[in-house]
Amino acid sequence: MIILKSERDLEAMRPACTVAARILAEVAEFIQPGVTTGEVDDYAASLMKAYGAKSAFLGYRKYPCHTCISVNDQVVHGLAGSRKLLFGDIVSVDVGVIHNGFIGDNARTVAVGGCNPAAQRLMDVTEKSLYEGIAQARPGRRVVDISRAVQRFVESHGYSVVREFVGHGVGRTMHEEPQIPNFVDGKSSPKLRPGMTLAIEPMVNAGAPDVKILKDGWTVVTRDASLSAHFEHTVLVTETEPEIMTCPQRTASRLKVSS
Ligand code: MF3
Ligand code: CO
Repeated sequence: MIILKSERDLEAMRPACTVAARILAEVAEFIQPGVTTGEVDDYAASLMKAYGAKSAFLGYRKYPCHTCISVNDQVVHGLAGSRKLLFGDIVSVDVGVIHNGFIGDNARTVAVGGCNPAAQRLMDVTEKSLYEGIAQARPGRRVVDISRAVQRFVESHGYSVVREFVGHGVGRTMHEEPQIPNFVDGKSSPKLRPGMTLAIEPMVNAGAPDVKILKDGWTVVTRDASLSAHFEHTVLVTETEPEIMTCPQRTASRLKVSS
């Protein structure tokens, strides 16, 4: 069952998404060569506290960190620890918080100091594929239209989309229906309706789509050790334009995405 959010729900959920977005932006600024992933996670935890929010990830199926920090060939769900970030690394930071009883979930991949053009291009294509998907988030379309838009964009640039992990509905819990694959899976696909809140999150590999999970039980890496990038927004389907709920600027003027 897909849970449609009322205007009252959205009044509570918007601040949760804004907090998630602000924390992600501040954590991205914090990342620089020499910082450990554990320090990044601690910094995120301190911001959550300061904003009166809680991590949506910590304790979820015993997940041990406040955020997911995934470096280079790590795709998603990277565990924070003693690893030092080096100039040229690319790091996916995934921040999900609970605030006002609702969850805001977002992620982006950033370069540590700087990176080579190939890594930059992978990040750019992945971010743009997210916006291609978001542009489909409107009534009259189906979830598969989001999936197709992401997959087409990514594959037309010579990259691949991960199959084993998908985007999801989000609200009072982190994972609601529907699942939002980043590829066309041929299954029946729900119609999009106003009030749906969707976490759209392309995971894009420079090489083959195949992934595996490390012995820590969480960290997802590419099988061929190629680089991977990940971007995510929480998006509201409205009667008209999609509303990017995890866009901090939305507080100033609502960000519109054209189809
Ligand atoms: N944004 C990710 C997701 O939607 C983060 C979940 S990490 C977990 O699945 F540890 F909480 F599972
Ligand atoms: Co998510």
